[in-house]
Amino acid sequence: MNFLKNNNAPIGLFDSGVGGLTVLKCLKEILPEENYVYYGDTVHMPYGDKSKSQLLEYSENILKYFETRGCKAVVMACNTTSSNIFDEVKGKYNFKLYSIVHCVSEILSALPITKLGIFATRATVESGAYQNLITKFNPEMKVFAQYCPKWVHIVENNLLNEETSVATIKSDLERMMLNQPEKILLGCTHYPFLLNIFSKYTASDNFIDPAIYFAQYIKNDLASKNLLSNEKTQTDEFFVSSNPQNFKSAAKLFYELKQEPKVLVF
Ligand code: DGL
Repeated sequence: MNFLKNNNAPIGLFDSGVGGLTVLKCLKEILPEENYVYYGDTVHMPYGDKSKSQLLEYSENILKYFETRGCKAVVMACNTTSSNIFDEVKGKYNFKLYSIVHCVSEILSALPITKLGIFATRATVESGAYQNLITKFNPEMKVFAQYCPKWVHIVENNLLNEETSVATIKSDLERMMLNQPEKILLGCTHYPFLLNIFSKYTASDNFIDPAIYFAQYIKNDLASKNLLSNEKTQTDEFFVSSNPQNFKSAAKLFYELKQEPKVLVF
């Protein structure tokens, strides 16, 4: 596949909702000159409960849209689609496609630890993608993956201050701690929104947000292909498939949107 070589063409990002903003935030910090188009597939959220064929259908619609927008690169800022359908779609589109799971696993496998916990969605945990990739690069590393079915709902519906939310998170955390991990990977882009709650029970530096490694990987790769933008030529655009007001208010903790995203349904 020949990728487009227009340096100022936008970078597309997608996720089921606000989670991918944790990746966008890191990207904008280190690549402020880029033009970004973000799509939150809120109508199908949560992705963590969906089958592989559903995830493939939603992702292909979004990827086709990004192709019509002439994106030079697309960032799968969603661990669930990265771990389930990246292999099916890579190389099919006229842009460089970055999968969070595939770009960060080697870096994680080189961390100086022997026990890594992973919090992720059910579909990510059951795919075994992180577990397989990390232990392929480092067979000595012990990996414990646990899914947290309520966390995405808590973030998307702004329920972070509810007592029941805090109790759910505390109990999920306690279950993970039984494995005595040295670090815990936040293997779902929504989970960094919960760091304030985690830090009530355990030190925040026990957690790894892979977005930082992912953004650095993307920057290095675009630079190596001479694809970095040298000038921001348009304002960033945000789209959702439903509930734009909800998206704007849930986003707040990580990202202050100037206006509501536009609704775009495929
Ligand atoms: N934030 C996404 C991820 O990183 C998907 C969460 C969901 O919708 O279940 O996996």
